[in-house]
Amino acid sequence: MHLRPYSAEDLPALTRLFHATVHTVTAAHYSPEQRAAWAPAEPDLDRWRMKLAAEITIVAERAGEMLGFCSWTPEGYLDFLFVHHAHQRKGIARALCAEAERDLVTRGVGRIHTQASVTAQPFFRRQGFVLVRHQSVKARGVELPNAVMEKPLSPA
Ligand SMILES: CC(C)(COP(=O)(O)OP(=O)(O)OC[C@H]1O[C@@H](n2cnc3c(N)ncnc32)[C@H](O)[C@@H]1OP(=O)(O)O)[C@@H](O)C(=O)NCCC(=O)NCCS
Repeated sequence: MHLRPYSAEDLPALTRLFHATVHTVTAAHYSPEQRAAWAPAEPDLDRWRMKLAAEITIVAERAGEMLGFCSWTPEGYLDFLFVHHAHQRKGIARALCAEAERDLVTRGVGRIHTQASVTAQPFFRRQGFVLVRHQSVKARGVELPNAVMEKPLSPA
């Protein structure tokens, strides 16, 4: 597996991975209605393009297959972290998240934070993130519970 910067041609594979992961991996914690609101069958490609262009995005791949992706802002907000449903628990998210942390440390950012899905909270705890607060966010009119979590970053 290697990590590389996202490029515009990755968008179809990235949105497919996002949709498939939400509808399989998070099914234990989110209802079909919540998952449909989170990851609708037809992705809003303009919105994706806008978001990903505004953030630092990397993908994990092996032999041309996308295994996961991660995006964050230069200020330290980790936005997306998704791993292919067939490649869970292989350390892919750990590698993606470590890269985000490394990048932020080189930018002099002292804290990384995210809105962790219920599914992802054990992962983030394991990476040293702590709970800031539980909350609920609205996606297409549907409430999705998640948690604000953060981790201090030490200078390199
Ligand atoms: C959360 C997610 C990104 C983790 O990806 P992953 O590549 O499977 O995670 P890793 O293999 O790097 O996990 C590293 C460690 O985190 C912990 N961890 C990861 N997933 C866990 C889980 N479901 N339950 C408990 N601990 C978990 C474990 O300690 C794991 O190490 P181990 O496998 O040696 O025990 C992945 O499950 C996912 O895509 N979830 C759905 C999308 C999502 O909710 N994304 C976050 C949006 S905020």
